[in-house]
Amino acid sequence: MRTPLESVIFHRAAPDKEWLRACSPDAHIDSIVLDFAGREDGLGGMEQVGEVEVVRHYTRLSTLNWDIDRGLYPLGSCTMKHNPRLNEAVAADPAYAAVHPEWPPQYLVQHQRIMQELARDLAALSGFDEVSLLPAAGAHGELTAVFMIRAYHLARGQKDRNVFLIPDSAHGTNPASAAMCGFRCVQVTSGKDGILRLESIKEHLNERLAAIMITNPNTLGVFEEEFASIADAVHTAGGLVYMDGANFNAAMGVFQPGRIGADVMHFNLHKTFTTPHGGGGPGSGPIGFNRNLAPFAPASGDARSIGPVKTWFGQWGMFIRAWVYIRTLGARGLKEVTEDAVLNANYIRARLEKVLNLPIKTPTLHEVVFNDKDLPNKVITLDIAKRLIDYGFHPPTVYFPIHVHGALMIEPTETESLDELDRFCDAMEAVVAEAASNPEHLKLAPHTTPVSRVDEVKAAKDTDLVFRPAARN
Ligand SMILES: Cc1ncc(COP(=O)(O)O)c(C=O)c1O
Repeated sequence: MRTPLESVIFHRAAPDKEWLRACSPDAHIDSIVLDFAGREDGLGGMEQVGEVEVVRHYTRLSTLNWDIDRGLYPLGSCTMKHNPRLNEAVAADPAYAAVHPEWPPQYLVQHQRIMQELARDLAALSGFDEVSLLPAAGAHGELTAVFMIRAYHLARGQKDRNVFLIPDSAHGTNPASAAMCGFRCVQVTSGKDGILRLESIKEHLNERLAAIMITNPNTLGVFEEEFASIADAVHTAGGLVYMDGANFNAAMGVFQPGRIGADVMHFNLHKTFTTPHGGGGPGSGPIGFNRNLAPFAPASGDARSIGPVKTWFGQWGMFIRAWVYIRTLGARGLKEVTEDAVLNANYIRARLEKVLNLPIKTPTLHEVVFNDKDLPNKVITLDIAKRLIDYGFHPPTVYFPIHVHGALMIEPTETESLDELDRFCDAMEAVVAEAASNPEHLKLAPHTTPVSRVDEVKAAKDTDLVFRPAARN
């Protein structure tokens, strides 16, 4: 059954009630007051809503938005994982939450210590010489690093190095970051097994090469086994190696990018260290880098620094969460995170490859990419994703990575239990079975949400958010 559409709060007005102002002595206890006295147009006829209406309205709205607290959230790549409540409790403590960067330094000693410890731990885990906590998101970390790479080449008098090599499996933010800094992005093709081969970059190893950006494990969840030899070759040609470390949750405690040829890498604190995902910010995307790039770092104190990329210290609220998470788990626990993330993804792979096509069969780590090839009755990835909503799950990532046609990418993360993985796989199997038994029903899914399918291109490019009373339910 379809959940009813929730009308806007203005529709819940009780026009017969008085307009109550915040300081009115006769304010009713069960009313909230919206004082828009300064607005000539008032509130479109809605000046007052009873408290109970407001509470119910927002409670209903909160259930329309899918969240990880209600079940597995299988988005691959950008991933939402459980944020332990301990992190949240510590972050909310006024001793940490009320801090202001302009407090006298003696009141910030504790906070500085926490940031130093976090940076030190990230460096130890990743094998880089130094870490800057400043960038406010993964993509912002990329941008910061690309600026540093540009400054590095300029400082060496090599302004003609303007080419960034980017594999076809890359996240869209990679070419965007390089292009924003004025580099020319050249796509390099990974092999049929999903792995980037040294062979395919050889023709670009020349005096124009600025850097290569490699996600490892890549967006198929596959370990780039030629990473070290590619890095060697790029260095020999005078270029640098950027590792997109968004998938560090499949590397932590197992391999150190800073020791296998990467010069610089961003971390997605949300993906690996359980902080909320900022979606471009305010999240946190610290960067780790080696000595060769240190003078160019945002707050290096060197005249060659690219300068600050964020005010004050960065996203303190994220640091404290990540710091608590690292302290809670310790070195052994962090390695177990990686192992469990890989185990969970491979459990899903083993169950679902019996019913879905697995285009690339190479062993995968923390995420697995299926596609819609071989689904009967012209059922496509979008239909599977939409129908999954009716079964109570957020859809997986769809149509990414873009070099896999009809991709359906699943990442369960380490925090899911076997029961929850089974519940998800059962739902997926049931949905796939419908492709044969009831395809028309599938193509009209979801059937339980207030709105079924919208024209997604129009919704993104031509959004109309004007409230029209005719839409009242
Ligand atoms: C592989 C990869 N690179 C870069 C990013 C960008 O990170 P953010 O969304 O924090 O900007 C993501 C998203 O998490 C990602 O999955």
